[in-house]
Amino acid sequence: MRVNGMTLALLLAARAPSVARAFAVHGRRHRHRAVVVIVDPSSSSGVAMSSSSPILLDREFHTRRRHSRTSSFPSSSSSSSSSSRSSYSSTRLFSIPTSSADRDGGTTSTGGTVPGSSSPVASTSTTSTSTSGTPPTPFDDGLSPYGITTPIYYVNDKPHVGHAYTSLACDVIARYMRHSGRDVHLLTGTDEHGQKVEATARGAGVEPLEFCDGVSRAFRDLLGLMNISNDGFVRTTEDHHKGAVRHLWRELRDAGAIYLGSYEGWYSVRDECYYNESELVDGRAPTGAEVSWVKKEDSYFFRLSEYTDRLLEHYEDHPDFIAPESRRNEVVSFVRGGLRDLSISRTTFDWGVKVPDDEGHVMYVWIDALANYISALGYPEETDPGSYYDKYWPASLHVVGKDILRFHAVYWPAFLMAAGLPLPRRIFAHGWWTKDGEKISKSLGNVIDPVELVNKYGVDPTRFFLMSEVTFGNDGDFSDERLIYKVNANLSNELGNLNQRIMTLVYKNCGGATPAEIGPLTEDDEAILSTARSLRMRTGEAISNQSIDRYVQHMISMVWDANRYIDVQAPWVLKKTDVSRMNTVLYVLMEVMRHVAILYQPLMPTSSNVILDQLGVPKDERDFSHLDTAGCEIKLGREVIKPTAVFPRFEVPVAAAV
Ligand code: MSP
Repeated sequence: MRVNGMTLALLLAARAPSVARAFAVHGRRHRHRAVVVIVDPSSSSGVAMSSSSPILLDREFHTRRRHSRTSSFPSSSSSSSSSSRSSYSSTRLFSIPTSSADRDGGTTSTGGTVPGSSSPVASTSTTSTSTSGTPPTPFDDGLSPYGITTPIYYVNDKPHVGHAYTSLACDVIARYMRHSGRDVHLLTGTDEHGQKVEATARGAGVEPLEFCDGVSRAFRDLLGLMNISNDGFVRTTEDHHKGAVRHLWRELRDAGAIYLGSYEGWYSVRDECYYNESELVDGRAPTGAEVSWVKKEDSYFFRLSEYTDRLLEHYEDHPDFIAPESRRNEVVSFVRGGLRDLSISRTTFDWGVKVPDDEGHVMYVWIDALANYISALGYPEETDPGSYYDKYWPASLHVVGKDILRFHAVYWPAFLMAAGLPLPRRIFAHGWWTKDGEKISKSLGNVIDPVELVNKYGVDPTRFFLMSEVTFGNDGDFSDERLIYKVNANLSNELGNLNQRIMTLVYKNCGGATPAEIGPLTEDDEAILSTARSLRMRTGEAISNQSIDRYVQHMISMVWDANRYIDVQAPWVLKKTDVSRMNTVLYVLMEVMRHVAILYQPLMPTSSNVILDQLGVPKDERDFSHLDTAGCEIKLGREVIKPTAVFPRFEVPVAAAV
């Protein structure tokens, strides 16, 4: 039986029960899946590409906070410009469905040909569904403007892979949120004051500011290279920032939270952190950094000890404030142990923000640095309704490395409480990249340069590897061999090859266009379409909880399923025996690939869009809302371009191969 748009509505009306059944079967299969799909050796997938793939940027990054005010994000409908709290109110995707099976299983009319469209597998009801937002969590309603921050990076040295990692994680989350229709602001920058930076600059025989200019530029260049979609970039040497910090200091002082005393004790310049005698391990900081004794000097103190109970209460009332949970527990037990007042000024060097009304003191670099999160949003002057500060503070998420969690989860909230300002909603601490089990550091000579990685492997493969290799929150060991293995397996063999097989078959056997007609959908077709349609929900839940690796795993699994489907359906055999069925299978595969490529955009913006171009998905139909907007499915009989390989395949280094 041949089916065209008119008859499909009837066929699809009867499909709901089988979809539900297929979904259940699929769920069972998932639990047993352990095999990597073997690709068709006769296919063109093994295409070797030069490893130096071009670096394409889909967006200009913005170098200064002021520039960012007029910035937009062309690759998504982010609509940041137009969205506001109220703009999300009428339409929601994630509050309604109770399970993926409900959503995908057809109880809400998952099938039917959309009037005026030539698409035979409309995924939702014929009226366009509400698709704004991300799955809500106890710490995020899934709709409000989403402020996300990286730490600001010390400029004592050029960036390494650890820095790239934090920025990249934030970028993936930010892009995911934008593609979900949320109004997002991603902030990053450089932390330029303090003893460490001053000493490094002087050591290099350069004035501190000149030195900072150079290294800060290297951090901005890295953002461009890694395709990071930051909306703001703050430098702590900017006048506006310095003014904001001084304002914050006055607020703290006026609230009685600061007093003048004297300090003597241990200080680590590398960590820019004070340590108690009891915290030292073999005469060093717990991080392994050298410490030196600061002789008694006048110092201003912040009354941190007075915030112990309020902080504990906040942790108690907001159990999701700090993540992952193990890190939360560490912070809680640290605070339960009692807090001592914090020395927040020094008189022995001057590369920093001067204390208001007492210019012999320079502020502790962490007060200065933490204030970037609000200074970059316009604090203290520009806080009116509609301002950046109003929209994006409190931040929805601070992403930090585990080494600096204490500063963000203890000191920063205490400063904010004292100043009467709202606290960020969540702080997520990720783990460290190591090399051969050792922390990456210049002195050990094991620094991994992200610029080299991108030049060797390309932007998207590097992004893919860094985000998928380790559970976000845990440590991971970097090796080129692992990167090559993963990129070859998951991208080149599984995703790239699949796309190449589908599009080559379509191009050659359907007259250079998508199939003009397709046959009825089988249970297998419905099952895989159903899995694809639940992908947004599943990846959204992962991203809302910062489980970036889980998001990628869902994507990889979807591609495995599609590879298995193509192997079982064998459209290359059908082309000789049943052309209508071949058309159906290819159509279903293209529709699955549409979901995959749209949802891979946050992680691999360039490659995903190359796939979407090959699938013929219009540029303005690539946001997540189009995944289940009726009429946006792959169209019948639409011209396609000749496919080309999307991902490179790399040779395993000889030493590792033997
Ligand atoms: N300037 C402070 C942050 C101030 S935020 C108000 C700072 N800078 S840093 O350059 O030393 O570190 C910035 C981020 O890079 C931290 O989140 C840190 O954890 C991360 N990384 C540095 N080395 C790392 C690895 N080897 N692996 C993963 N991330 C690590 O701290």
